[in-house]
Amino acid sequence: MMLVIPSPEVGLDRYTPRRTARSRGRTLPYELSMDKLHIHGPCRLDGTIRASGAKNAALPCLAATLLTDEPVALSRVPPVRDLATMRRLLAHLGVESEDRHDGATVFRAASPGSLDEAPYELVKTMRASCLVLGPLTARRGHARVSLPGGCAIGVRPIDQHLAGLEALGATVRLEHGYVETRAKRLRGTRFRFSVPTVGGTENLLMAAVLATGTTVLENCAREPEIVDLARLLSAMGARISGAGSSTIEIEGVDRLGAAEHPVIADRIEAGTYLIGAAMTQGDVTVDGSDPADLAPLLEALVEIGAQVDSLPRGAGDAPDGRIRVRAGERLGARDMTTAPHPGFPTDLQAQYQALMTQAEGISHVRETVFENRFQHVPELVRMGARIRTRGSVARIRGKARLSDATVMATDLRASACLVLAGLVAEGTTIVDRIYHLDRGYERMELKLQALGARVERVG
Ligand code: EPZ
Repeated sequence: MMLVIPSPEVGLDRYTPRRTARSRGRTLPYELSMDKLHIHGPCRLDGTIRASGAKNAALPCLAATLLTDEPVALSRVPPVRDLATMRRLLAHLGVESEDRHDGATVFRAASPGSLDEAPYELVKTMRASCLVLGPLTARRGHARVSLPGGCAIGVRPIDQHLAGLEALGATVRLEHGYVETRAKRLRGTRFRFSVPTVGGTENLLMAAVLATGTTVLENCAREPEIVDLARLLSAMGARISGAGSSTIEIEGVDRLGAAEHPVIADRIEAGTYLIGAAMTQGDVTVDGSDPADLAPLLEALVEIGAQVDSLPRGAGDAPDGRIRVRAGERLGARDMTTAPHPGFPTDLQAQYQALMTQAEGISHVRETVFENRFQHVPELVRMGARIRTRGSVARIRGKARLSDATVMATDLRASACLVLAGLVAEGTTIVDRIYHLDRGYERMELKLQALGARVERVG
């Protein structure tokens, strides 16, 4: 049965997160906001902001609520568009969600008899919808999920997700653009990923927790968001060891229960603003962000001349950690290569390139995770950056005087890069299609204004 997706005007408010983007007082439901950002540069970023919850941790945590019919309360779920989309998808799969007075959101999956199909209309807007595959197959024995197409940054197959589910005993069928899985009960196995995939590790982790026997996953991704998901699953009663390392062992259990879980801080959001500090001769403190999750960036910032002070999670008066970056006298150039965690995050690659346009000297940035993640380069060049790309390497000549332009965002992190460039450019830079930004940055213009930037969202 094909799901009918309620159109925006049909009572979507119950799926819309607590605080949604407002433009001139209007609450924007789901439509793509056609707003633009006007950024008046150059300016300095100066001050303190608090990191939002991590989009890439909250998404698998929401999917994990499918694994039980008990209430799961998640706090620090960022009110960004991708989470609104995931809440909407879960609602169609029978997971009710309700905002609690203390800011947490309580999710509760109704009886397993609910729908178990993730329709194309939703999956096409957010690839992370495929994270419901593992939990649906484990909990309901069946899932039918539209295959996520490619996206701006690459083909992004899910072959490893599917191979892992088959190894756990599911039958997997691909037809009409959908993947369908069936399993009476998943059986523990040993499975090795051919590539350390974040989503693949998360999907199989959520599938294995309800399998019979022991599952050993090898060559897993090691991102902090996976450790956070494992913390939630363990709080629900799962038996997991090794999350955050490349080998994870799961002892299957018969059922999972209720839990309360605070989602970790968004390290990519924090890293974006900290790069902004180094770029604008500024001084930015991001409260509620764990320096351990951003080590590669912080090391690079120190090497290029910035001053970094930080408090680890739980130290002093910083229960969730704190990071402060002050620009140095000089801003040196430094080559960078992205890699799976604990390497330099691909999600900060575009922002780092913007930083290197201002550095003294030539730098080379190599992207090794995705095949097409230089889409921000032509727009940066239009602003005056001096960047040449050859294959997966961008060569950046620093000390470029950037000037304002109307630029177009193509994906979430490319948008953030263009905003950073607008902060140092002479004049008013207009960043179009900022609905990309709204997917993963909580009200970026408000946080930038809090740091002294002259930025406005124009509807
Ligand atoms: C997650 O995407 C993040 N998204 C991405 O963040 C992030 O860039 C990426 O991990 C890498 O860190 C979420 O967590 C929602 P992968 P994911 O599977 O899981 C290949 C952002 O900006 N691969 O680790 O889709 C794949 O093609 C987004 O917030 C296979 O070959 O990434 C890619 O080259 C963008 N087969 C590499 O692995 C598979 O079955 C890494 O992909 C799966 C992946």
